[in-house]
Amino acid sequence: MNNENKGHDMIKVAVTTSKEDTVLIEQAEQIALELNIEYLSRRRRSIDTLRNEYDLDYLLIIESQQVILKGETTLAWHPCMAVPRIKFLRLGQKDPMIEAMGLKPDYTVLDCTLGLGADALVASYFLGEAGSVIGLEASKYIAFLTKWGLNNFSGRNKHVISALSRITVLNQNYLDYLPEQADNKFDVVYLDPMFECALKKSSGLNALRPLAFYGDVTCAVIKEAKRVAKRRVVMKQNIGSTKANKLKPDFIGGGRYSPVTYYIWEKNE
Ligand SMILES: C[S@@+](CC[C@H](N)C(=O)[O-])C[C@H]1O[C@@H](n2cnc3c(N)ncnc32)[C@H](O)[C@@H]1O
Repeated sequence: MNNENKGHDMIKVAVTTSKEDTVLIEQAEQIALELNIEYLSRRRRSIDTLRNEYDLDYLLIIESQQVILKGETTLAWHPCMAVPRIKFLRLGQKDPMIEAMGLKPDYTVLDCTLGLGADALVASYFLGEAGSVIGLEASKYIAFLTKWGLNNFSGRNKHVISALSRITVLNQNYLDYLPEQADNKFDVVYLDPMFECALKKSSGLNALRPLAFYGDVTCAVIKEAKRVAKRRVVMKQNIGSTKANKLKPDFIGGGRYSPVTYYIWEKNE
């Protein structure tokens, strides 16, 4: 079953542990309550047996060092390209997203489409201690994995560790969140909706697709994002996106050799 066509509320998920271990079982029971899903004890049943027996799209498996969503695709949190992008920034190279956002170190960023948080992580690194990033993710499963990943990152890069500790993850839909915010609340409002044409190369996001929220960014969304932004609204989309061009960006930025483009709306007040 392709969950992209299934309707997000219909995706059936339960939680279990990788082994019969009291600490993991306690964690899994807690997570079941938090996500309002069923906890299934393993009782020596394989993951596939559990999925078939309970007709599940995904099983959230709690391991000691990792949490994994296992369905037809397997999703676990990873920082995607954020780590090399941060390394390039440290070498003095420019990051096209940071340039498009026009970030300065004390800015606040609202990332409306957090996903696994790679872009938020790069922004958070660039901002440092003085800035902050709030990330919204409408899928409770993706929001859970990302929050877990940010809190349990096992890498040793201290710049990455400190940047991810400064991201706040909210399981919220930007359509609900934006109207509740005051005018000019964040310096930059960022959107990276699911692409019109999936970039096959973006394998980091392939496993996320069936669980993700889809939906067009409309003129009304851009208007609301501009109200909430103090300086800029930036949307990442593939190059030449007809839908993005129809939203009449003030200008377009992006890497010369990159398949993605940043559509930018300035706050001219
Ligand atoms: C392309 S991914 C974002 C990738 C992210 N920029 C990164 O670096 O990992 C888009 C994400 O936005 C989420 N999303 C889509 N529509 C949303 C909405 N209305 N509110 C909040 N999140 C949304 C999807 O579920 C998906 O996880």
